[in-house]
Amino acid sequence: MNLIMKMLAVPATVLALWAVSAQAATNDDIAKRLEPVGQVCVTGKECKGMEVAASAGGGDAKTPDSVIAKHCNACHGTGLLGAPKIGDTAAWKERADHQGGLDGILAKAITGINSMPPKGTCADCTDADLKGAIQKMSGLK
Ligand code: HEC
Repeated sequence: MNLIMKMLAVPATVLALWAVSAQAATNDDIAKRLEPVGQVCVTGKECKGMEVAASAGGGDAKTPDSVIAKHCNACHGTGLLGAPKIGDTAAWKERADHQGGLDGILAKAITGINSMPPKGTCADCTDADLKGAIQKMSGLK
């Protein structure tokens, strides 16, 4: 090996080592970042990391209050567009009586009725989520 080759070879080796260790650090970082997501979540068992990830995406376990605050209150809070108002049990009961009870107005809430959008804009709400919200808003059991 002549001198020039030696001079080139040394930095190349250093560079290669640096690249390897930089890669290792990167892999470590990636592993750390993936750790919470990589945890296995068994249905029915608590899974903290996923809860956080889920709520960040808006797909968390819904409560009647959270559904109402996010989706229903916009109209039902003030009676906008003729929506029955939150807490106005008489207005809700009259509707329920016309639709065959709570499940009847739940069905209308799912499909939408006039200015009432399907699922009240809560596209990822389950029927149970919507029912909980309706019960809370109407005071009907
Ligand atoms: C964009 C406004 C708007 C939003 C948002 C909205 N609603 Fe409504 N809702 C209405 C209006 C208006 C009516 C009355 C419709 C009619 O009878 O003409 C109504 C009626 C209803 C009824 C009665 C249906 C019937 O058969 O009489 C239910 C139940 C209901 N909404 C549930 C919900 C729920 C639950 C949410 C939230 C997840 C929600 N709504 C969000 C406007 C809205």
